[in-house]
Amino acid sequence: MLHLAAFTHVDQCEAEPEKAFVVNGLGPRNSSIAAAEVGAAVMALSTDYVFDGASATPRREHDPIGPLGVYGKSKLAGERGAREVNPRHVIVRTAWLYGAGGRNFVDTIVAKARAGEPLRVVDDQRGAPTWTHDLSEAMLALIERREFGTYHVTNSGNCTWYDLAVAACAILGFVNPGIWFLGAGLELGYLWLLVSNPRFRNALSVNLERGAWSTTATWRTTRRRASS
Ligand SMILES: NC(=O)c1ccc[n+]([C@@H]2O[C@H](COP(=O)([O-])OP(=O)(O)OC[C@H]3O[C@@H](n4cnc5c(N)ncnc54)[C@H](OP(=O)(O)O)[C@@H]3O)[C@@H](O)[C@H]2O)c1
Repeated sequence: MLHLAAFTHVDQCEAEPEKAFVVNGLGPRNSSIAAAEVGAAVMALSTDYVFDGASATPRREHDPIGPLGVYGKSKLAGERGAREVNPRHVIVRTAWLYGAGGRNFVDTIVAKARAGEPLRVVDDQRGAPTWTHDLSEAMLALIERREFGTYHVTNSGNCTWYDLAVAACAILGFVNPGIWFLGAGLELGYLWLLVSNPRFRNALSVNLERGAWSTTATWRTTRRRASS
């Protein structure tokens, strides 16, 4: 059973913690219980927000967790819940997703560039943009191999949101789209976000030792593949 649903609006989770813990904490646990009852395994998607973002090196699966905000805390509760009730669980932590279907940062930037709107993008968080196509292949590989446990799956390399916006516009041929970056502290609300969001959201490692995932394309190469 795949549990993918979540209350993903990070700011809204701060405003509605009860809902966040019910959806992101109890949701995966309930799916895991249901799976266990019929003898099935469960796979739940989690996030780099379970870390504090303080490390400048990629986080490994065994690194200490330390979510700063409600979204990360509620997703961590979901991880724990899914593990507790079903020994046949797979937790996949990923980050900065983009791809076909659904809202995502790259599509938003491209739509604004197409419309000729000025772009203002933050430049102080680093992360590993990950193509959902690559993520889903890794998830399938884990399922086929019956690899239970916790895994970090992202494309490799890292960049800021600003770098990603520039790369997306360049790949799609927008000449001089006028992308401005916002430094820390330019806006009050933004300062608050800095407190509760992990800042260094670097590439999470992939559990190569257990052979679950053989290659990790970099975010730059996959960005090209995704746009072609
Ligand atoms: N996007 C990322 O960069 C990223 C990074 C790391 C991990 N993740 C994880 O990946 C998963 C998918 O994320 P996403 O970005 O695709 O999220 P999304 O676009 O916000 O989609 C969330 C989905 O969950 C459903 N959902 C929300 N609350 C629900 C509820 N109470 N009952 C049933 N369905 C509910 C939504 O349905 P409706 O549309 O009908 O509300 C929607 O289909 C989540 O577990 C998220 O935590 C995402």
